Amino acid sequence: MNSIKFSSILLLLLAGIALIGAVKVPITLPESVLPNNLKAVNGGSHCAACTLSLTLVQQYSFIHEKSIQETLDEICTFFPSKAGSVCTFLVDLFGSQIIYYFDKYNHADDVCHALNICTSPECRLFPNNSPNYFNEEHVHQEYDPIDPKVQENPWQWIQELINIWTSEHLPIDDLDKDKFSPMDTFRGSNWRGKDCDDTDANIRPGTLENLSEPNIDWNCNGIFGVNQQQQSYEDLLCGNSGAIGTIVSGDSAGAHFSLPPQWFNASEINSTTYAGIVDILEDEVDWPMRSAYTGYVPSTAQYSVQSVYLQMRERNLCNHRDYQNLGVNGANSGGTASKVMFSLNRNQTHDKPALFFLELIGNDVCSGHHTLDTQTTTEEFEKNILTILQYLDTQLPMGSHVVFVGLAQGGILWDSLWNRTHPIGTTYENVYNFLNCLQVSPCWGWMNPNETIRDATSQRAVDLSAVYDVIIKNYNFTHFDMQYYDFPFAAINQEWLAQGGQTWELIEPVDGFHPNQITNYLMGKYFFDQLSQDHPDWLGDINPNNNIIQSLFGNQGGY
Ligand SMILES: *[C@@H]1O[C@H](CO)[C@@H](O)[C@H](O)[C@H]1NC(C)=O
Ligand SMILES: *[C@@H]1O[C@H](CO)[C@@H](O)[C@H](O)[C@H]1NC(C)=O
Ligand SMILES: *[C@@H]1O[C@H](CO)[C@@H](O)[C@H](O)[C@H]1NC(C)=O
Ligand SMILES: *[C@@H]1O[C@H](CO)[C@@H](O)[C@H](O)[C@H]1NC(C)=O
Ligand SMILES: *[C@@H]1O[C@H](CO)[C@@H](O)[C@H](O)[C@H]1NC(C)=O
Ligand SMILES: *[C@@H]1O[C@H](CO)[C@@H](O)[C@H](O)[C@H]1NC(C)=O
Ligand SMILES: *[C@@H]1O[C@H](CO)[C@@H](O)[C@H](O)[C@H]1NC(C)=O
Repeated sequence: MNSIKFSSILLLLLAGIALIGAVKVPITLPESVLPNNLKAVNGGSHCAACTLSLTLVQQYSFIHEKSIQETLDEICTFFPSKAGSVCTFLVDLFGSQIIYYFDKYNHADDVCHALNICTSPECRLFPNNSPNYFNEEHVHQEYDPIDPKVQENPWQWIQELINIWTSEHLPIDDLDKDKFSPMDTFRGSNWRGKDCDDTDANIRPGTLENLSEPNIDWNCNGIFGVNQQQQSYEDLLCGNSGAIGTIVSGDSAGAHFSLPPQWFNASEINSTTYAGIVDILEDEVDWPMRSAYTGYVPSTAQYSVQSVYLQMRERNLCNHRDYQNLGVNGANSGGTASKVMFSLNRNQTHDKPALFFLELIGNDVCSGHHTLDTQTTTEEFEKNILTILQYLDTQLPMGSHVVFVGLAQGGILWDSLWNRTHPIGTTYENVYNFLNCLQVSPCWGWMNPNETIRDATSQRAVDLSAVYDVIIKNYNFTHFDMQYYDFPFAAINQEWLAQGGQTWELIEPVDGFHPNQITNYLMGKYFFDQLSQDHPDWLGDINPNNNIIQSLFGNQGGY
């Protein structure tokens, strides 16, 4: 499973880890903690990280008429505490060489080659004839690392990051080991309803009321206590309400992967640009709290959030906090069957049923390899999905529902983006070709100038999606029924175009690959509307006690 390759290559900060993996430096970070794809593999992800970050450094120095040294120092101060320490560490390590090579060369591509981080001269982000950002006024300076400025030792944090990015995708802060956490990042409440008691595994979102002790909020939905007749509020207001949780297992699109575009646009970089980077990395660069399936944060002037969970909660306030997002960047059907699905926590006898989305929209047909042979076959796909379903049948409570989301049709990515400008200042075609050349593209098959290859990738995606219908026709499971929906990008795009929009406005600008915030919002509505038409009973009734719950329990403890 190439689970973190995609995110890792584009990250400025993890550029740091990549570089540390590339050179032997005397720090106490054992080689064994580095994930495989951050170890030196043909220069690929290290080269991408080096080239992207030094391109930004160079552009920033040009825009602000500063020397490379001033720029390196200044940009490091833009990163908060631990991240700033990593930045400073790297500048201390490489600063003088970077300055030296920027004296000689016009492009970060050449500097990263000179630093021996990039090894294939034909792989360039800026082809040789590109305009350059060489600063004519620039005077050579020696880098003087007398004052290392490192304030905080970041290695413990980096190890935690690596663990959460590569291991079981379970909350780090979870005393009672119920897979729910009082913390928000590190697979905490941004991903799964917040644990209101982290010392007792019987107290967790989604569980049924324990009538013997009504003053405890067993399921953390903020409804507890007794009325004057000593009747349990949970029982009175939620007991027969048909409450049901919302769960998604899937890939980076399910978890809502999104790299902030301002991180990669030198004109926008300022002292606040990287302020949120620590939380963002601790959430694996995903935004499950704004996703189509489990989003819960309120919309703001900047972005709109709608999700299946929010609409389920609106129907029945007893569903508060009953969501789990098991999305993992890079997950495909094999990885989900062998690993990711075990991060689910639903107790078949003591929890409420769940509306479970299985969304694997691309990684079975996508990789950085220059071949279609690594794609999952329909036989393998069917086997993997059946393994997942058989496991779910041992975990999901009776009365649950499983919604399959088909694979994307990624040809549209190339068609709508290839000649547009990426935030890094070159075309998407150049960015895609650079990543393909390094074999670190998230999807060589779709982000590819060759139409034959894009079409072959789309055909396999269609074939795999068709497996779901075969499964629905040929299998029954005890604890859930099943429904298939196409990945709704085409439907959403059609409506968007009809309203005068452009397709590129629906795609993540930095990776040129994932559905963005607008699309997540529209998908959240789309799935709920579809289910309202096709299976209104799956959504549970509208709870007639919602007003009472609201007046007695307010925001029900928030998130
Ligand atoms: C389900 O929950 C009950 C009570 O919390 C517990 O006793 C039981 O072991 C759980 N079952 C599983 C499979 O975890
Ligand atoms: C219900 O609560 C009682 C009293 O606190 C406790 O002994 C029992 O284990 C609980 N049962 C479950 C299933 O959590
Ligand atoms: C930094 O840039 C953002 C836009 O990207 C802007 O909203 C913000 O005010 C700027 N902050 C400072 C301190 O200049
Ligand atoms: C980009 O390419 C599309 C065809 O894929 C074409 O319709 C459009 O005019 C081109 N835009 C620019 C700015 O060249
Ligand atoms: C980069 O930021 C500038 C300033 O905000 C903006 O005008 C430009 O469109 C951005 N570039 C891209 C490709 O988004
Ligand atoms: C596109 O890919 C196909 C299949 O690999 C190959 O036969 C063809 O020559 C390629 N076309 C171009 C223009 O490179
Ligand atoms: C599954 O259950 C439905 C409804 O009970 C039944 O009509 C169908 O024949 C069953 N299919 C299989 C493959 O057992």
